[in-house]
Amino acid sequence: MVVARRAAAPPDLAHRSAPSQAAVEALPGGRRATRTAASPIGASSRAAAARATSAPPTLSPFPLTGTALAAAEPPRFRAAVAPLRRRVDAAPAALPTVDAVVRAERPEEPLHCLRPAALAAAARAFVAAFPGDTLYAVKCNPEPRVLRALWAGGVRQFDCASPAEVAVVRHLFGEAAGIRYMHPVKTRAAIREAYASHGVRVFAFDSADELAKLVAETGGDALGLVVRLAVKGGGSYDLSGKFGARPADAVELLRAARPHARTLGVSFHVGSQCLDPAAYAAAVALAGEVIRAAGVPVEVLDVGGGFPASYPDIVPPALEHFMTVIGEAHRGLEIPGLALWAEPGRALVAGGASVVVQVALRRDGALFINDGVYGALSDAGAPGFRFPCRLIPGDGREVDARTGGFELFGPTCDSADRMKGPFVLPACVREGDWLEIGQLGAYGAALRTAFNGFDRARLVDVCDDPMLATPGYPPN
Ligand SMILES: Cc1ncc(COP(=O)(O)O)c(C=O)c1O
Repeated sequence: MVVARRAAAPPDLAHRSAPSQAAVEALPGGRRATRTAASPIGASSRAAAARATSAPPTLSPFPLTGTALAAAEPPRFRAAVAPLRRRVDAAPAALPTVDAVVRAERPEEPLHCLRPAALAAAARAFVAAFPGDTLYAVKCNPEPRVLRALWAGGVRQFDCASPAEVAVVRHLFGEAAGIRYMHPVKTRAAIREAYASHGVRVFAFDSADELAKLVAETGGDALGLVVRLAVKGGGSYDLSGKFGARPADAVELLRAARPHARTLGVSFHVGSQCLDPAAYAAAVALAGEVIRAAGVPVEVLDVGGGFPASYPDIVPPALEHFMTVIGEAHRGLEIPGLALWAEPGRALVAGGASVVVQVALRRDGALFINDGVYGALSDAGAPGFRFPCRLIPGDGREVDARTGGFELFGPTCDSADRMKGPFVLPACVREGDWLEIGQLGAYGAALRTAFNGFDRARLVDVCDDPMLATPGYPPN
């Protein structure tokens, strides 16, 4: 999912000067967060601390500033890049539309437009359709407002893959959240922190060495232990190239783990954006063979993520179709007491966010915009994803029907900051116009970097539907 080159964040700067999200939300008098409020570049840590001291108890995963806060608000988290700043004058009952926000604010930085109702609706649809536990894959979009919207939609379990993700979920939802640490390779420190500080009891692994680490660091008693199995993928992104035990090894791992497990399971990931429900059936069948060969009781079959979302020219099979195939394959195993889990990411959140960018320059069919592959548009770079795109004219002019295919260039100096698309837009697009780029809730904001200093962005909640509907997921 991650592009080849990702700039490391300047952690000191980010840590020192970015106020907490709650602090930004809590600016007195409904004042809007200003350009200097939260960026690590040029922000005043003293001003940020002053604002933060008037904030209510925060649920933020973002770094706090100021010594008073440091004492008051453990644990502390470090954002990789400047956190997305909130509109603080908009906590209304009725959310605005994207067009209304753009008209009113004329944003000169990328504007992330979150659709809480759509996020909750997608979660509700998946939770209702899946015949087991739905674990949201936090890596896909760890933004607290996204997590809260999914919670509102009925998600209570979370697939976490780092101590920071675990901490965010615990911080937001307390003990009510079920946290399962599904990354098959963890540092000892990460295992200790998840187990001892956050009460995590369920861990994935795909090797005997990792199992030994889990046992050593936790005492190895009454754990949930899930063997990640490598499967032949059906997704646009293969996720078995790096992780997953071969079937014969998975058999041995199940036997070795059984004495330490209250709950023993097998998981797989068919690859992200999987358009072929049959890939799940094949993987379920393989997992069944492994479970039978192990000859020990196994309580969980985790079918992972991979559930697709719509993109231009890609309309996936409906959610119900995936569920029917998975349900039949599961029943076909005839293994009594085998519960199902799933770890959806993309399908729950892709439609739930768009980003409004501004055109800085047009050169024939190339548009230079203020966000790119080092920002929220990573998947539009080397992976070549196309996203739905629409024009919001900068001067309110009438736009005629003629369209063209455009290539986009991001703001950094790297030639790799290029998104071939083509992105279909009115032929008259020009400097100063805005583009709303949709379906960016998944692996969009989550992959932002601070490369070249282009890390400013803001976040607003809007009432719009997703820019593309995904079959089986109602818009809101
Ligand atoms: C272990 C695991 N589970 C779930 C997911 C979510 O996958 P998707 O977004 O394709 O649903 C991922 C994505 O990388 C993953 O690595």
